[in-house]
Amino acid sequence: MSLTLAIIKPDAVASGSAGKIIAHLEEGGFEVHALRMTRLSLAQAREFYAAHSERPFYDSLVEFMTSGPVIPMVLEADDAVPALRGAIGATDPADAAEGTVRNLYAESKERNAIHASDSDENARAEIGFFFSTHERLGLSG
Ligand code: CDP
Ligand code: MG
Repeated sequence: MSLTLAIIKPDAVASGSAGKIIAHLEEGGFEVHALRMTRLSLAQAREFYAAHSERPFYDSLVEFMTSGPVIPMVLEADDAVPALRGAIGATDPADAAEGTVRNLYAESKERNAIHASDSDENARAEIGFFFSTHERLGLSG
């Protein structure tokens, strides 16, 4: 078993889909190990997406991610990183496979309902970005 980070994005929180998304992931075999609601500052959003800072969508993405509350959560599953990427679907909901979170709940390529870490290394860093060790229910990882 391994860990990854998901964030329910402001569009999905605002539309009242957060509970359904969490249930969908739990039913898909992910165990929630830590979860809270927060609102990102501009500085936090810029730092979280720093890898994309040269991309044309960066400023708009940062504005969107700070536009309302988000729900970061630590999820556990077998091969959690690829498993969650599969469960959320492609970045653009128009390309997301049927039954994936983005297929079901995303509005657009930017307002696409959920973030998921893309490697074990990034998962560790992103979990540390949002959660202190004591918030992770005694996990060793
Ligand atoms: O989230 P994911 O890993 O699937 O995609 P990404 O390429 O890492 O991009 C991060 C986020 O930037 C996406 O989830 C979208 O919210 C946003 N994005 C965008 O607005 N326009 C694009 N052309 C690509 C990404
Ligand atoms: Mg990404």
